[in-house]
Amino acid sequence: MERTLVLIKPDAVQRGLVGDILSRLERTGLKLVALKMLQMDREMAERHYAIHRGKPFFKGLVQFITSSPLVAAIFEGPMAVEIVRKAMGETDPARAAPGTIRGDLALDIGRNVVHGSDSVETAEQEISLFFGPQDVLNYERQVEPWIIES
Ligand code: RTP
Ligand code: MG
Repeated sequence: MERTLVLIKPDAVQRGLVGDILSRLERTGLKLVALKMLQMDREMAERHYAIHRGKPFFKGLVQFITSSPLVAAIFEGPMAVEIVRKAMGETDPARAAPGTIRGDLALDIGRNVVHGSDSVETAEQEISLFFGPQDVLNYERQVEPWIIES
């Protein structure tokens, strides 16, 4: 069982897309186990995106992600990391396939509405930046989380 961090980025919050994005991710069958709204500060953003430090888009990325509130969530289930990345689509929304979150909802690489961890190891680090162990909730569902109800 995997867990992955999802951020519904400031552009999506401002555009009123939180419900749509959460709904798309819930409908994959993955289980929502933590959820909060917050505004990242520069220190937190630089830690979250540390791998991109030094790249030409780093400063703009940090400015954007700290510019207004976002929604952070943890989704859990088998292959959660890969399933969320597939549901998100490519980094550049102009290249992302129709049916994906970015392909359907965005156009600009710097305003690509959603973040998902890119590996299980990254997910663990990213989750610990946003959530403590007490924030991750445990509950039963009527159906197995990976079975999609029609
Ligand atoms: P994210 O981390 O936000 O989920 O996005 P990602 O894995 O698909 O893409 P990543 O390579 O990690 O890049 C992080 C964010 O930086 C911005 N970016 N801009 N102008 C550019 O060439 C460029 N490349 C990346 C994007 O907003 C991307 O989501
Ligand atoms: Mg990334």
